[in-house]
Amino acid sequence: MPRHWTPELETGNSDIDHHHRELFQLTSMLDQAVRSQRTDALERVIVFLEHYVVDHFSDEESVMKLAHYAFYSHHRAEHDVFRVQVAGLRAIFDEGFSAAHISFAIRRLLDKLLIHVRTVDIGIASIVRLDHDQKPT
Ligand SMILES: [Fe+2]
Repeated sequence: MPRHWTPELETGNSDIDHHHRELFQLTSMLDQAVRSQRTDALERVIVFLEHYVVDHFSDEESVMKLAHYAFYSHHRAEHDVFRVQVAGLRAIFDEGFSAAHISFAIRRLLDKLLIHVRTVDIGIASIVRLDHDQKPT
């Protein structure tokens, strides 16, 4: 699976797209953290994800709610799973698991988040497009 951002992933909402680009960049931040074998570098990746599942997810959910998006519940359910999984990352970090174990867990979760962007978040583009179409010119 490609781990780089491509323009067809744009939803048209600049805040959401900016956050998605940052998420794709997190792959290289994780690679650097693994190479450095520093747990504080791994923790910075976890902190990013903790913010992402709170701030970014609530931005997406607000956009979907405002538009009465038909697939909101399904999308929100995926977010809820990710929120739990990021809390799980924090737990294994705080419990002092090995850097190898933590980085493997982060990589697995990050890959799932990138798939979410490609397959679920892309649906937001239909609302943003609709919103633009309905705005007076
Ligand atoms: Fe999402």
